[in-house]
Amino acid sequence: MLASDMITTDRLILRGWRDSDLEPWIALNADPEVMRFFPATQTADECRAMAARNQAHIDQHGFGLWAVERREDGAFLGFTGLTHLKDNNPMFPGVEAGWRLARQAWGQGYASEAAAASLRDGFGRLGLQRIVAFTAVPNLPSQAVMARIGMTRREDLDFDHPALPPGHRLERHLVWESRTG
Ligand SMILES: CC(C)(COP(=O)(O)OP(=O)(O)OC[C@H]1O[C@@H](n2cnc3c(N)ncnc32)[C@H](O)[C@@H]1OP(=O)(O)O)[C@@H](O)C(=O)NCCC(=O)NCCS
Repeated sequence: MLASDMITTDRLILRGWRDSDLEPWIALNADPEVMRFFPATQTADECRAMAARNQAHIDQHGFGLWAVERREDGAFLGFTGLTHLKDNNPMFPGVEAGWRLARQAWGQGYASEAAAASLRDGFGRLGLQRIVAFTAVPNLPSQAVMARIGMTRREDLDFDHPALPPGHRLERHLVWESRTG
């Protein structure tokens, strides 16, 4: 595997995390609209910890949930990328694709552009065979990204998220998959 500091697309740079990302990252995660399909908004400390975990994954594996920067003006938009599944995930071991953008960055195709580039990087540079993505049933915008980038719906792999209590409104998760070739 070749090391990569970043992925570049027509309009975006997917890169490592910087201290200057933290302020917009904390604001993004405090926005109830952005976090409406998560159990809660996140505190500043939780945001700092997640940014550090994302960067540690990039340092260790050469890929991860990249900070997404708009090339036109250098604005930090959120994250997109690939990450190893946690060992409590029913599909562990494997690699999942994920995305989260600030509200002002929605509706412009940025998530799909960044996610498609991440999949290409995964199947190309990283030599992965399979990438999955999943989200809570009501998260239609995220499911639309999965469809837009050509992932295949895998109803047989749907699961109840182990981090959520039984009966939680976000417990059921729908799975999508892409494979090499
Ligand atoms: C999931 C999320 C990233 C999707 O954002 P999004 O803006 O809907 O998705 P995209 O960036 O791919 O943009 C697609 C939209 O831009 C429009 N668009 C405009 N210009 C476009 C272009 N050049 N290319 C593609 N789409 C374009 C599309 O028509 C589409 O609009 P629609 O939603 O009205 O159909 C966003 O809702 C989000 O951050 N949510 C909160 C976090 C979250 O839930 N993450 C997923 C957890 S699993």
